[in-house]
Amino acid sequence: MDSLETAVRHHSGIAVDRIPFWVGLLHHLAPRTVAEVGVWRGDFAAAMLAGCESIARYDLIDPWRHLPDWNKPANIEDATFEQHLAATLAKTEFAATRRRVLRGRTTEVADQIVDANLDFAYIDGDHTLRGITIDLLTMWPKVKPGGFIGGDDLWPTIWQHEARFEPTLVFPFVLHFAEAMGARLFALPHAQFLLQKNLVNPGSARGFTFTDLTGRYGDPSLRRQFLAAPMPTPVSER
Ligand SMILES: C[S@@+](CC[C@H](N)C(=O)[O-])C[C@H]1O[C@@H](n2cnc3c(N)ncnc32)[C@H](O)[C@@H]1O
Repeated sequence: MDSLETAVRHHSGIAVDRIPFWVGLLHHLAPRTVAEVGVWRGDFAAAMLAGCESIARYDLIDPWRHLPDWNKPANIEDATFEQHLAATLAKTEFAATRRRVLRGRTTEVADQIVDANLDFAYIDGDHTLRGITIDLLTMWPKVKPGGFIGGDDLWPTIWQHEARFEPTLVFPFVLHFAEAMGARLFALPHAQFLLQKNLVNPGSARGFTFTDLTGRYGDPSLRRQFLAAPMPTPVSER
């Protein structure tokens, strides 16, 4: 086991929730340049900026507006998104010189991040198949070789929410993405994942490994879920 896996296992074992896990792991990884896709009210950003002194620049990526083509419960009305942006600015004001607000969808603002610039990106925006596909493909070139992408809402079921909402496809998409990119992938407690970009030969499929610390992600098959009847129970009701 190398030092990354040792640190991931250590912080997974002691953290009671995702935020203390990422504060602990980022403290170990000591990133300088970080981006968060999907910021909401800024709680995650504030915790990372407060807990990780190594962070010199933290990009906050979020449209903070109602999106007509995003069928998820977090797609609220514009007025509340304005309040969430104001709350984010207030919570991260102590780190105003280290933050950069990139207001827009990932695809609308990613050009403002130089390629191979980020040590760490946290993806927590649109978790539909469209969203996770766009976010991983858009943010991957922004991450340095040897750098990391973490993310939220890695559920073993696509039915994170009720069936009237679009399914969540972080899993298995991130697993297939890691294989295609030759990346290391960890499935973590609290519905988190961690990808590491191959340092020596990013792009070679040969570096792919998958370490599931939860034992919940052994079956990436969608067929099993599509054939399940009656309609599977959403995560929120389990
Ligand atoms: C679950 S919330 C993020 C929570 C936040 N990361 C935290 O830990 O506190 C999802 C956010 O993703 C944003 N979002 C939705 N679609 C997006 C897109 N295409 N690009 C960037 N952000 C998006 C929404 O505006 C919303 O604020």
